[in-house]
Amino acid sequence: MSTNRKKPEDLRSHRWYGVNDLRSFGHRSRSSQMGYSREEYAGKPVIVILNTWSEINPCHTHFKVRVEEVKRGIWQAGGFPIELPVQTLSEPFQKPTTMLYRNFLAMEAEETLRSYPADGVVLMGGCDKTTPALLMGAISMDLPAIFLPAGPMLNGNWNGRTLGSGSDTWKYWADLRAGKITEDDWKGVEGGIARSPGHCMTMGTASTMTSAAEALGFTLPGFASIPAADSRHAQMAAKTGMRIVEMVWEDLKPSDIITEKSVDNAVTTCLALSGSTNAIVHMIALARRAGIPLTLGHYDDLSRRTPVLANIRPTGQYLMEDFYYAGGLRAMLKELGDSIDGTQRTVNGKTLGENIADAEIFNDAVIRRRAVPLMPDTGLAVLRGNLAPDGAVIKPGAADPKLHVHTGRAVVFKDYADMAARIDDDALDVDENSVLVLQHAGPVGAPGMPEWGQLPIPKKLLQKGVRDMLRISDARMSGTSYGACVLHVAPESFIGGPLALVQNGDLIELDVPQRKLNLLVSDEELARRRAAWVAPEPRFTRGYGAMHQIHVMQADKGCDFDFLQREGSGCAGSGGSGGEPEIH
Ligand code: FES
Repeated sequence: MSTNRKKPEDLRSHRWYGVNDLRSFGHRSRSSQMGYSREEYAGKPVIVILNTWSEINPCHTHFKVRVEEVKRGIWQAGGFPIELPVQTLSEPFQKPTTMLYRNFLAMEAEETLRSYPADGVVLMGGCDKTTPALLMGAISMDLPAIFLPAGPMLNGNWNGRTLGSGSDTWKYWADLRAGKITEDDWKGVEGGIARSPGHCMTMGTASTMTSAAEALGFTLPGFASIPAADSRHAQMAAKTGMRIVEMVWEDLKPSDIITEKSVDNAVTTCLALSGSTNAIVHMIALARRAGIPLTLGHYDDLSRRTPVLANIRPTGQYLMEDFYYAGGLRAMLKELGDSIDGTQRTVNGKTLGENIADAEIFNDAVIRRRAVPLMPDTGLAVLRGNLAPDGAVIKPGAADPKLHVHTGRAVVFKDYADMAARIDDDALDVDENSVLVLQHAGPVGAPGMPEWGQLPIPKKLLQKGVRDMLRISDARMSGTSYGACVLHVAPESFIGGPLALVQNGDLIELDVPQRKLNLLVSDEELARRRAAWVAPEPRFTRGYGAMHQIHVMQADKGCDFDFLQREGSGCAGSGGSGGEPEIH
């Protein structure tokens, strides 16, 4: 952060509006065309609002209203707001997966800021990939930036039963397939599981990443926990608009906020929440944008010493609305004590420690005390072995404990279509001790590493009462999912990782306490299979997909594009911000 307050002529937007040349004449005359007189913008910070609202993103329906509240705050603080729509990344609707487009939105955010007269930016996101994408773009552009989290939706309800996004979908879908509920029951769940604007209210990727954004220092204190429908969410939107104007004058940028220690705070937060496994990929990508080489090994180290305090589904019992009433993220961060570095700076100009100093837990069933955590440690485990030389992950708390140490026979599906076609076939040679293996579901192969990692339990086993099995893939899993699912196997099968060499009947060994994942096949036999392996045809020959498959990195590197990461992150990226545009 610069020690001197900026003056109007120091603003980046001054080059568009403030100088006396032909180009700035054009900018001013076209502003007049839009109904603005000079007094409305001259010498004021131009605040771009990157809005991921659309008519197909149910988690952001309130952003159409919230953006007006943000603008109200910007005007009141003496700024000039400009709303710019960007990709919406609607998790339920975009296929094959929003993850394919996370980097697209990150690039769009960065280049939109670079090419327009932005002095500062409000990032409006929340639905899964929108949060990391907007932050990645803002970190690379490094203009003053503040994040506005969409907030969780209200608790779901059906016939008096509380429903959680995703988690209860999988639960009741399994019950329907096993014949335990009726089609009418299933329709009731459909009508009651999503009752308001806002993102998924379980501890899915959205709740995990918006909380990580707050712990990282990018939101006003307490904002990530406020339900979208709460009037305090609207008030916080206006305050966010007010604050970004001041941040521009102070020149408080992402590079002043994101440090190794603030990244550790965010990772610790994800772990204490027993957050989504997706957060690992996103946190690594975010950190590397700032030149911080966050590794899976460091993630595992933090996991071994971080207690799980949030009792939220799918690992726990409650939902985000309950979490807010129990004190919210500020209370949980305070309870984490010295696991959190309170000296780190945040967007309101204060430290994280100052922001949480007066927080309290109001319901310690929802936010557990450190002395009686939901789990003492290991919200997440990083596995290695000959099946995953560059790592794989599992969320032990979401898995049946008896599967934490398990050896079983592989039942291999060569891709998602193969799995969908055969999983419920009575002739499938599978039992409850089998290990379901899904190939070609990674960043390059699927493409985009979809959330296919929670393979369905075969119907004939569901009907016998089996509810969990060991499953292994190079895919991701929804943060709202549960089960003994080993994910993010790297390197992925499509590019010849060892997962490609697994055959039906091979024995696979998982040992979570020892962090091991091994294919119990001799080195000689694996060498023979590797020599016979034929690389699949590329999925794309043109367009964005072709660019993605050439440049996307593996899961252990965050799945960013290789050319977007900063030097120092351990990757041969181009480095730097990409520079400022010439205005001709
Ligand atoms: Fe948007 Fe879950 S669908 S957060």
